[in-house]
Amino acid sequence: MSFTITGTGSYLPGKVVTNDDLTAFLDTSDEWISTRTGIRARHVAAQETVTDMAVAAARAALEDSGSTPEQVDLILCATLAGEYITPSLGCMVQKELGAHCPAYDLNAACSGFLYALDAAAGYFARGRVKKVLVICAEAMTRLMDWTDRSTCVLFGDGAAAAVLEPGEDLLSIHLSAAGNNDALCIPHVNGNCPYSGYDRGPASLMMNGQEVYKFAVSAMSKGVEKVAEEAGISLEDIALVVPHQANMRILEAARKKLGMPAEKIASNIDQCGNTSAASLPILLDQLSRQGRLKKGDLLALTAFGGGLTTGACILRWAKEKSKKTAPRGNFSCEQKKGGIIMSTFESIVKVISDYREMDPEEITLSTTFEDLALDSLDMTEILMGLEDEFGITIEPDEKLENVEQLVTFIDDQLEKNA
Ligand code: COA
Repeated sequence: MSFTITGTGSYLPGKVVTNDDLTAFLDTSDEWISTRTGIRARHVAAQETVTDMAVAAARAALEDSGSTPEQVDLILCATLAGEYITPSLGCMVQKELGAHCPAYDLNAACSGFLYALDAAAGYFARGRVKKVLVICAEAMTRLMDWTDRSTCVLFGDGAAAAVLEPGEDLLSIHLSAAGNNDALCIPHVNGNCPYSGYDRGPASLMMNGQEVYKFAVSAMSKGVEKVAEEAGISLEDIALVVPHQANMRILEAARKKLGMPAEKIASNIDQCGNTSAASLPILLDQLSRQGRLKKGDLLALTAFGGGLTTGACILRWAKEKSKKTAPRGNFSCEQKKGGIIMSTFESIVKVISDYREMDPEEITLSTTFEDLALDSLDMTEILMGLEDEFGITIEPDEKLENVEQLVTFIDDQLEKNA
C-alpha cells in the first residue's frame, strides 16, 4: 500500500520582484540572470510568514481534495526554516488549521517534497494513516545575503501542499544524501553565549554554484532513469517530468542527457525562481490546475538540494483537474595528425560540436573558448561531457583557454591514470 494524491494547493506571495527591479541595488542585469538561469521574476514574502504561506497552501489542497482539517491524520512539513526552531512549522500549521493530528518538520532542502512523500509512504504501508497533509513552505529570500549577486537573484518564496490518501500510485521512489557543507550551506544564527568561541560566520546562504550545477545535472537525469527502471517503465512512458526549479540550464542539460523532448519537461522557473522544497509541488499544483495532468499520466518527479540530497519518484496521476486557481498574495588547433592526440582531439570536437550544434570542421586546435562564445555554464557542461567521455575529473578552476590546451590536459590525465 502506498498512496494517491487527491488534492494539491499552492501559495505565492503577492509581491513580485523582476530582474530589472534588482538592478536598483545590485550590479546585475535581466540579460545575465535570464540567460544564466531562465529566471525573470520571483515572489517575495514581504508581508507573509512561512506559516501564513503554508496554511494558505494547505487550505487550498484540503479544499481540492474535499477534505477537512479534522480528517487529517498527519501533517508533514518540508522546510529549511519556519518562524521558529520550535515549535515546528508543522505544529504552527496544525494550530492554524485546527487539526488534531501529529505534526512535524523535515529538512532535506530542495528535495524536501520527495523526502516527505517517502516518509508518508511508510505511514501508509504500516496502515497508520488515511489522510496525510504534506506541506512545503520556504521564505528563501530571508536566508540570502542581498549584497551577493551570485546567490540572491536565484531564489524566491512560496508554499505548496498535497493531500495523500491510501492508493497504489507511488510506483517507485529513490532518495540519496551525500554529506557536503562546501557546495551549499546556510549557517544558523549565532546566539550570544558568553563561553562560545565558535563563530559560524554570516547566517546567509553560501554556495559554490558550479559544483552544485554539476551535481544537479547528473542527479536529476540519473534520478529519473533510476526510478523509471525501478517502476518497470521506459523513459518514453513518462508523460511529464516535474523537476525542482533551480536553473533552466540545469533542466535543459538534464533533458539532453535523458534524450527527452523539451515539451516533456515542466517548468515555471521564469516566474518563481528557486523556492527550494516548495518549487516542485508549486509546479505540480499549477500543472494540475492548468489541466496539463491527465488521469493515468505517469509523472517523474526529480529534485536535488543542499545536503547534498536528491530525490526522484514515478507517480501515477489519478485525480481530475483541480477546479479553482491557486491562491496568490493577498496579504497586505592547426590539427596535429595521428595517434592519441588525434583521437583525443576528435572526441573533444565531437563533445563541443554536439553541445553547440555546430559544424565540427569549424573547430581546430587553436580555437579558443572565447571564439566559441561559451559562457561559464556552457564550459561547465562541456567539461562534464569530457569527464564522461574520458573518465577523468576536470576541476573548474583549471586554466584552459583553447582546444589545444584541453587536448594536452586530457592526455596528461589519461597518462597519469594509465
Ligand atoms: N549578475 C551579473 N553578473 C554576475 C551575477 C549576477 N547576478 N552573478 C555572478 N556574476 C558574474 C560573476 O561575478 C562572474 O564574473 P567574472 O567572470 O567577471 O568573475 C561571472 O558572472 C561568472 O560567475 P560564476 O559564479 O562563475 O557564474 P556561473 O556561470 O557558475 O553561474 C549560477 C552562476 C549560480 C547561475 C550557476 O552556477 C548555477 O546555477 N549553479 C547551480 C546553483 C543551484 O542550482 N543552486 C540551488 C541548489 S538547490
